[in-house]
Amino acid sequence: MPLFKRRNAQPSAEVDFTKLPRHIAIIMDGNGRWAKKRGLPRTAGHAAGAETFRTIATYCKEIGLDYLTVYAFSTENWKRPQEEVSAIMGLLKKYLLEAIGQMERDKVKMEFFGDLSPLTPELQELCQRTREISKHYEGCQVNICLNYGGRDELLRGAMAYAKDCMEGKADPNHLTQDQFGQYLFSRGVPDPDLVIRPSGELRLSNFLLWQSAYAEFYFTDVLWPDFSKEELHKAIAAYQHRSRRFGGV
Ligand code: IPE
Ligand code: IPE
Ligand code: MG
Repeated sequence: MPLFKRRNAQPSAEVDFTKLPRHIAIIMDGNGRWAKKRGLPRTAGHAAGAETFRTIATYCKEIGLDYLTVYAFSTENWKRPQEEVSAIMGLLKKYLLEAIGQMERDKVKMEFFGDLSPLTPELQELCQRTREISKHYEGCQVNICLNYGGRDELLRGAMAYAKDCMEGKADPNHLTQDQFGQYLFSRGVPDPDLVIRPSGELRLSNFLLWQSAYAEFYFTDVLWPDFSKEELHKAIAAYQHRSRRFGGV
């Protein structure tokens, strides 16, 4: 046993693939800055970010991860200029059409967290179709958070629970955490073990507020379009060096 343990020792990027976290969540941030650095419009950054997402999602399935949840568009992102919002929605449509075309090959199960009703009927239908076609696939489940906000999710959960109470379907004097979890978009999905935020920002920005109560966090300055399998390895390796106590000793 060494006498002194180096406190800030950099964890090696060696991943133990037999001990992967069960659920990784990623805030896909930094597309705009990536584009700006190259003198490109922000939209080009979103297009590059969509490619990174495709690579990482396929890789997560390959290594046997059970769940991947990505933050694609927040309830706050509607504040952006109309052209940028439209461009993001256009990319989403392109991505979903391509994903549907390749589903038989990739076999990635896809779900959506968030209120999809403000999306165009065409986009809503594409999300629905993606979900339907892939619902029987085994292996990695990818959850795309669209028009998602943690607070919005909690309010919707509270309202749905109140409605069930009024209709006699739930007991207003008794509610467990597991029961309340059934009212959230993430129902049936275990909490994330690891939340990754690229782009250097050190905040949650309204992502998985309930679910990440005991998640491990990994922040990196790398911008999302530059995020790679190697970056994912670094995040998982760092996670594997953490000691999770969940309030115990
Ligand atoms: C994340 O990248 C994508 C969305 C929020 C839709 P940003 O567009 O936030 O990129 P930065 O943070 O401005 O660099
Ligand atoms: C969070 O990124 C939302 C997504 C990545 C979809 P933002 O860029 O919107 O977050 P802030 O504004 O930096 O907090
Ligand atoms: Mg951002």
